Amino acid sequence: MADASPAHEVDSEFYQPASRFFPSHSRTALTYDDVTLATLYTEILPKESQIDTRLAEGLHLNIPLVSADMDTVTEARMAIAMALNGGLGLIHYNMPEKEQLSEVSRVKNHVHGLIQDPIRVHPEQHIGDVLELIEKKRFSFSTFPVVDAVGTLLGLLPGHVVKPRYAHRKVSEALTPRAQVRTISERELGADPIARADRFFTENLGIHKLLVVDDHDRLKGLFTLSDIERITQETGAALKPARDSQFRLLCGAAISTIRRKDGSIDRDRVIGHVGALIDRGVDCVAVSTAHGHSRGVGEVVKLVRDAFAHLPIIAGNVTSAAGVEFLASNGANVIKVGQGPGSICTTRVVAGVGIPQLTALYVTSRAAAACGVTLLADGGITKSGDIVKALTLAQGVICGGMFAGCPEAPGQIVEINGKLYKQYRGMGSHAAMKAGSAARYGHSADSTRKAAAEGIEALKEVAASLDSVVGQLIGGIQSGMGYLGAANLTSLRDRARYIQVSPAGQKEAAPHDVIEVKTSSSAADKA
Ligand code: XMP
Repeated sequence: MADASPAHEVDSEFYQPASRFFPSHSRTALTYDDVTLATLYTEILPKESQIDTRLAEGLHLNIPLVSADMDTVTEARMAIAMALNGGLGLIHYNMPEKEQLSEVSRVKNHVHGLIQDPIRVHPEQHIGDVLELIEKKRFSFSTFPVVDAVGTLLGLLPGHVVKPRYAHRKVSEALTPRAQVRTISERELGADPIARADRFFTENLGIHKLLVVDDHDRLKGLFTLSDIERITQETGAALKPARDSQFRLLCGAAISTIRRKDGSIDRDRVIGHVGALIDRGVDCVAVSTAHGHSRGVGEVVKLVRDAFAHLPIIAGNVTSAAGVEFLASNGANVIKVGQGPGSICTTRVVAGVGIPQLTALYVTSRAAAACGVTLLADGGITKSGDIVKALTLAQGVICGGMFAGCPEAPGQIVEINGKLYKQYRGMGSHAAMKAGSAARYGHSADSTRKAAAEGIEALKEVAASLDSVVGQLIGGIQSGMGYLGAANLTSLRDRARYIQVSPAGQKEAAPHDVIEVKTSSSAADKA
């Protein structure tokens, strides 16, 4: 990079590092599409590039992606899928505190490949009842564990007896008795349950189901050979899950600035809830508000930091260097950057406030480096190229809209004119504020009717599975790193060279002057 040949001098006159590019554009706020990255000599093949990222001591992700703490994006199912892909999900706080604790537990107790709540039948049922259940629920399997009223394992009902000719027979007559059913104790699963189950199926020729029981012989789960084979086949290609030191999936939870009636922070409730989240195994909390450079947010961050010295704290949102310094000085480790870039955000329209994302990231990155904190670029990501640009200045990216159409996001699918959609709403929309997120926007829950909404309620076209969307995004990130010769994300930040793009250049960047024959209907395709 330090080459002073005439050719390199020409390049460096046009393609500038962040420290020269952004200050020379200090009068214009720029966002992802305003800028492009220059290619550099490379010896890196995209798939060789390392994309793991350290957000804080004890918070290391294998991919730099975080799913947004929004009530139409991240609950346990999304957080599990994110962590299995190597990222992190932040469970939103638009639910009772007790429910948020259960969501965190669901993620932390998740054992990949283990069906933790298998469908079970009872001895007094008839085979006809079981056939009815299969028909009604459209199960594609017909072997069921048999348990008594308290869940003690009594045997296994094998698929070959679940036939109409035996409809009048009782399950108790047809089951394979407990003594002949192979089981494994929960305690024997160890740190790598998949490997343990895989070994069991290899050693036990012809057995396709392995039941998991506790010390009292109560059914705790079920492994199937087909699931284990699928997972072990995928493991080579798939991304490494993000796990804690006890091999549990990582999980984050958002918290708000809980206030008493008189407007003061309810310190006991904040500490009580964060303590309970830690008891459930949460790996970080995110103090999530629209305006992080504010007294209340500083107070909550400091409160949590003083009470829990080692807990990674994410806080935001800010778009200024002073905002980063403020949150870092109160004890935050990771700062969320973004005011108004989100796909459902109207903050800039309603309040006239906010900074286009790339300029905000550059300004905040200067303070982050000085304060020793990391940044998450939050909002405005619509394609993998945006993520590459964000990662030249931040250590990770938060996505809402990119993931909201996935089956792992909460919410029902609706059909409109033959197309399938899922609801996606801003946490500052009237509906979300009414459901609990008012504090995030500085309102109290009972004043939301009068408060100006800073987000909209929208629909996202149903997308492919999160695995597939994340796979496409990672492919794009690694492609960008290949073009820049960046072996890892630190090198990407060091090597990035920017230039502003004209409106004609922006048009040139997307497909043009052709008729697209295959429409990109899924988020994965669009990535
Ligand atoms: P994307 O673009 O990924 O943005 O859909 C998700 C991020 O948007 C922020 N957010 C909001 N911002 N009004 C806002 O101004 C809102 O109602 C709102 N809801 C979410 C949030 O930072 C999220 O991660």
